Amino acid sequence: MVGRHIHFCTVDANHYNDAVSSASSGVLPIIVVDRKAANPLHKQIYDGYRAAILRGDLRPAQRIPSSRELATELRVSRFPVLNAYSQLLAEGYFESRVGAGTFVSGSLPERQFSEQLPTSQSEQVASNPPGPRNVARRSLLYPTFKVGQVLRGWGAFGVHQPAFDQFPFQIWASLVARHSRNPNASAIHLVDPRGSERFRTAIGDYLRTARGVQCDPGQIMVVSGSQQALDIAARVLIDPGNPVWVEEPGYRLARAVLEAAECRLIPVPVDNEGLNVAAGIKLCRKAKVAFVTPSHHYPLGSTMSASRRIQLLNWAQSSGAWIVEDDYDSEYRYESLPIASLHGLDVNRRVIYIGTFSKVLYPSLRLGYIVIPADLVERFVAVRHAMDIFPPYLNQEVLADFIIEGHFARHIRRMRQLYGERRTALVDSLRNEFGDSLQIHGAEAGMHLAVTLTLPEGVKDTDITAQAARERLWLWPLSPSYMSESPQNGFVVGFGSVPADQIPRAVRLMHSIINRR
Ligand SMILES: Cc1ncc(COP(=O)(O)O)c(C=O)c1O
Repeated sequence: MVGRHIHFCTVDANHYNDAVSSASSGVLPIIVVDRKAANPLHKQIYDGYRAAILRGDLRPAQRIPSSRELATELRVSRFPVLNAYSQLLAEGYFESRVGAGTFVSGSLPERQFSEQLPTSQSEQVASNPPGPRNVARRSLLYPTFKVGQVLRGWGAFGVHQPAFDQFPFQIWASLVARHSRNPNASAIHLVDPRGSERFRTAIGDYLRTARGVQCDPGQIMVVSGSQQALDIAARVLIDPGNPVWVEEPGYRLARAVLEAAECRLIPVPVDNEGLNVAAGIKLCRKAKVAFVTPSHHYPLGSTMSASRRIQLLNWAQSSGAWIVEDDYDSEYRYESLPIASLHGLDVNRRVIYIGTFSKVLYPSLRLGYIVIPADLVERFVAVRHAMDIFPPYLNQEVLADFIIEGHFARHIRRMRQLYGERRTALVDSLRNEFGDSLQIHGAEAGMHLAVTLTLPEGVKDTDITAQAARERLWLWPLSPSYMSESPQNGFVVGFGSVPADQIPRAVRLMHSIINRR
């Protein structure tokens, strides 16, 4: 049995350095107990032993001094030692043998030990080349996400950025305080994968009036944004290999969910009337589901015409398919009243409707909802329960009051006015700066528009957006929204977070970056 000695010593905080330096000339103490440290003594002893075992300084079946011996050696009372030992026994690092004493557990497998106990996971990866560390093939179907790659910064044209400075945080804070001080007991004890009933009722009232969505609160499920809604819908509706219609171009994060669900993506072209249903039928009549953004197509911004809506609903009914309607930013329309939802036209209950508060309030709130056909509620609830059981309490109650007390409607009215001004400033500046060399799409609604243009030979929109980001201009490239090998170059330009008077300068910068090539 290999046996390096473990040495214990007790230090006062100001003697700690002495203890370490005197030890460095002799044997390094493995467990340093510091009476003045914030960390309690029993925890220091526990940590010291655990680290020594994981480093391999203490080997399986090696004897441990009795609690009395250790307490004497450390000059501490027996209580912290007994406390640490009982924790190490409970966790299986130690074992006690009747009449023989305490030992490092003999059943700890040696091969888990490394020479050093790294202090962080990344050091671990660097210092401890591991054996096979295979991950599931399915996890590799998700596109790699580099933290910071999306909302890289705060500045002109960020696509998913609303006017944060206009959000009524004072009111919000008072509602948070109300529900933190006097929590709603029944909501706190609730285990309903659909979320708070009060909140779902408030959402249902809003949807009926503002979006033409007819549903009762039992059909509404609160989710952490549209993304979770898409994921749950895919789990309920799609089996691997199923053909599924997606918009071409379309929302990349919806595609990411569907690729991970291993379905067969059928890219269906979108024009200025929305999804080309006839083309979809030609490509694959038997698709199981169509994922669409009919109110404001992402990214090109068209609104699906009445005729296409009816064709889509007819196709779904005749082929037994589902339609997932992602209604992510329909609150803001500038030249007409908001367009009623596709769900409102559906008499056959084939539409699963998804809404989000990410655009209308702010994205890090992570709150959205699904309206589920009544006969599918049980399946959605089953999937949700296995996923994260139910949504967190506080923000649901806060947002319920925010809606019920009229703050939500007021905020939408103010923002519609503000975003309308920003949108006009952006369209005017783009026309002034680029003239006919650039086409504007989908400026009638939402918080972004798209532009297409012919770039110099060999230049891609992704090259331009990378350069623009270095100059704090957050353009979003259009080409990755296409599945096709020959995508259209262009940019998705958000105007939610840029004050109107800063827009002309930002557009001049955009023009100069594009023309530098
Ligand atoms: C097409 C589309 N759907 C949904 C969303 C919102 O996603 P989430 O609710 O997960 O923040 C966005 C972006 O904000 C979007 O562009």
